[in-house]
Amino acid sequence: MSEIIKIVIDGKEIEATKGQTILQAAVNNGIYIPTLCAFDGIKPKASCRLCTVKVNGRAMTACTTPATEGMEIENNTAGINEIRKAIIEAIFVEGNHFCPSCEKSGNCELQALGYRFMMMVPRFPYSFPQRPIDATNPKLLLDTNRCILCLRCVRGLKDENGKSLFAIKHRGVHAEIVMDHEVCANISDEMAQKAMNTCPVGVIIKKEKGFDEAIGTRKFDKQPIGHEIENKFNQGGN
Ligand code: SF4
Ligand code: FES
Repeated sequence: MSEIIKIVIDGKEIEATKGQTILQAAVNNGIYIPTLCAFDGIKPKASCRLCTVKVNGRAMTACTTPATEGMEIENNTAGINEIRKAIIEAIFVEGNHFCPSCEKSGNCELQALGYRFMMMVPRFPYSFPQRPIDATNPKLLLDTNRCILCLRCVRGLKDENGKSLFAIKHRGVHAEIVMDHEVCANISDEMAQKAMNTCPVGVIIKKEKGFDEAIGTRKFDKQPIGHEIENKFNQGGN
């Protein structure tokens, strides 16, 4: 039987199962911790640092840190949210994010985080990098201008034979996501949609149908990111 432990987030005592991460415990208790590189079903690697919390005064990533009995965690504080806002701004200026022309607008986690953290003008200069667009595959378009290198696609997407759809080329500032054209050309429409949904931004786009869902009616057009978690115990209520 799983062992129940108690942790404290922002002064509120909650229950967690031993072995859960801080992030999993928070989500189960309706507490939102912002994330980008973490994704259900993919082992977290802590590459974006957006889920940074303070544990007993030390900065840690909630997606990889196991919850332990008696842990005191700071999450939704002005200081931590300012760090998160700076991370979001840094991600925006590192790439080329032109939201109004992006098929993912309204369904994009980065855009939604920009709104949630009230980003106005980023404090860092834009780098306007030269990045390739690969439109040669029949199933998927890859626009790396918007890539935030979260690696959700590389770690989470395989075809039915276990072959990866995407890989990372080069390292450091030259790192770039590339698709396996042979594998991607033979995926089902469902898999192409899954690939698009796995990407938190608008890099991976399923071909043949665009702007099917009107701007203004999309997921984060209706509710801010994190709303589902924060309201999970209010469903059907007032
Ligand atoms: S293509 Fe999308 S899922 Fe893959 S690393 Fe870039 S942002 Fe992440
Ligand atoms: S979500 Fe934890 S580091 Fe990215």
